Amino acid sequence: MHKDSLIGTLTVAAILCIVCSIFVSTASVKLRPIQKKNKLLDLKKNILIAAGMYEEGIDIEQAFNKIDARLVDFDSGEYVEGDVTTFDQRKSAKNPATNYRIPADQDFADIKVRSKIAPVYLVKTASGELESVILPMHGLGLWSVMCGFLAIEGDLNTVKGITFYQHGETPGLGGEIDNPKWKAIWPGKKIRNEDGELALTVIKGAVVSSSPNAGYQVDGMAGATITSRGVANLVKYWLGKNGFGNYLDKLAAGGS
Ligand SMILES: Cc1cc2nc3c(=O)[nH]c(=O)nc-3n(C[C@H](O)[C@H](O)[C@H](O)COP(=O)(O)O)c2cc1C
Repeated sequence: MHKDSLIGTLTVAAILCIVCSIFVSTASVKLRPIQKKNKLLDLKKNILIAAGMYEEGIDIEQAFNKIDARLVDFDSGEYVEGDVTTFDQRKSAKNPATNYRIPADQDFADIKVRSKIAPVYLVKTASGELESVILPMHGLGLWSVMCGFLAIEGDLNTVKGITFYQHGETPGLGGEIDNPKWKAIWPGKKIRNEDGELALTVIKGAVVSSSPNAGYQVDGMAGATITSRGVANLVKYWLGKNGFGNYLDKLAAGGS
């Protein structure tokens, strides 16, 4: 067979395709465990950021060892047995046996279903007092479901921090949800007002510092009203009765 013949060219092209596809599929299979490990590490990093425990260069695994991860049943607000390290909240939300269909009038985060159980992350002082509790939360923005964590101080009424580790909002607009400058507005904000009602929210525009509600309000992101509203709504959902409300009530009463 002459190497410049049509058959020769097609044979070389076919061999090249086979070699390349073997190379790509091997790389994909070999890299999968590394990707999974990095994804988990990123999740842990975000939990540490929300809890104010992250600094550049720290050993994430070592820092995360100080956090007590537990599984919580939304309905009872009690801890449940299970391996939190292998629990997949997203998979659980898709499984009819383990999910809960959210009534439309309660579905502020616009997610339709959620898992019946979820992980929570507790940070305690050396003497065993609750320093902070970190809750996973997600909800619809403009283009995407935004996933993050909200850390609450031991008084269960003050925001310690917030992070978003996954979203598809527009960079520079809704994508500002993971801008450290915007996230820095959150710590110190109160969750409930004097009447005990959920009041933490994101408003359109800047918070007026002299307003009596300033303590519960976070500045909206410029040009991203829909994303800002999405964040306000998901916070409202996950802190409310249909979300972690029962758990937080039990925690406040010293139950969970
Ligand atoms: C290309 C493009 C991307 C946009 N991305 C976002 C976004 O990520 N989040 C958002 O709330 N609004 C986004 N908007 C703006 C919305 O369409 C809408 O105008 C805006 O939320 C209104 O908010 P404003 O009152 O702050 O301008 C985008 C608009 C365009 C044209």
